[in-house]
Amino acid sequence: MKTIRALQLTQYGGPESAHISLIDAPVAGPGQVVVRVHAAGLNGLDWKVREGYVKDAFPLALPTVLGIELAGVVEQVGAGVTRFTKGDRVMGSLGGLGAYAELVAVDVANLAKVPASMSFANAAALPVAAVSAWQSLHFAGPVRAGQRVLIHGAAGGLGGFAVQFARRAGAKVLTTALTRDFDYVLGLGADHAIDCQTGRFEAAMQDIDLVLDYVGGDTLARSWQVLAADGAIVSTASPAILQSTPAGRRGLWFMNKPDAERLQQIADDVAQGGLQSRVDAIVPFDDLPAAIERNRTSPQLGKTVVAISA
Ligand SMILES: NC(=O)c1ccc[n+]([C@@H]2O[C@H](COP(=O)([O-])OP(=O)(O)OC[C@H]3O[C@@H](n4cnc5c(N)ncnc54)[C@H](OP(=O)(O)O)[C@@H]3O)[C@@H](O)[C@H]2O)c1
Repeated sequence: MKTIRALQLTQYGGPESAHISLIDAPVAGPGQVVVRVHAAGLNGLDWKVREGYVKDAFPLALPTVLGIELAGVVEQVGAGVTRFTKGDRVMGSLGGLGAYAELVAVDVANLAKVPASMSFANAAALPVAAVSAWQSLHFAGPVRAGQRVLIHGAAGGLGGFAVQFARRAGAKVLTTALTRDFDYVLGLGADHAIDCQTGRFEAAMQDIDLVLDYVGGDTLARSWQVLAADGAIVSTASPAILQSTPAGRRGLWFMNKPDAERLQQIADDVAQGGLQSRVDAIVPFDDLPAAIERNRTSPQLGKTVVAISA
């Protein structure tokens, strides 16, 4: 049996719990292709899964391969697949785990084509962040021109895209971020930025129609003060919003779903220069366990991507 390298979680815990080891190579099932993974995007979910924070919501049989999004080349095509052929450059989120491996079997429904001018590293940064930003922005209902949207964590992976999507929808875009990221956030089209460490956003605004909470904790708790009576808070960061929403208010927990059609539109838009996307670090495969830990412990300037196959 052919073996491949993959980042496996063997038990819940710290960085030592995930190792690069040899596993059996996958075979494409019906409706699947096997992708040779060139790059995969890191996400906060990596260390949350590793630490066991989400084990009740997502019970896993260990060992399991980590990673939720990838970009690479189709190497094998399963029965019934007509959309892709061997050699196609593809990208997508898996809707589950398993992206940190040299070869991955993926349902073709989750895959879009990587635009010709786009690198695998740039492609691997899009599926989760960009599609989640789109879906969470529209999760509470259509966003209309003139609405006031507050985006917490606007300089992050989701936030950077949400600012651009909300701006395009004609909303007034208010944001929280670190001062060092203000130029970036305002450059993406935000109308206003408040420092999340020294400023109190609740003292500076009111009547917000939609809060996108990409931060959680105290930031989420304080957001009820700025929300319009008929407004909504959508949180990607904290499922506890479901228990903590005050009576009569609208608080929604968002879970992303792969959407290859939306991903294709976004990727084409990025390739044509309409949308900005940023990758700040590309790490080698052997550095992946440490990079996941760095994602947990130190501020990141943007998306980190791991290079897997050459
Ligand atoms: N539910 C879902 O389907 C789903 C999908 C994707 C992501 N998520 C979750 O959504 C959240 C955002 O994801 P992401 O990939 O965008 O994360 P990210 O790239 O780490 O972005 C978070 C941003 O918020 C900044 N920040 C930290 N504390 C802040 C505060 N108090 N106020 C304002 N900004 C603050 C961070 O700055 P520093 O980097 O300097 O700390 C960073 O720029 C994470 O919790 C992630 O796990 C959920």
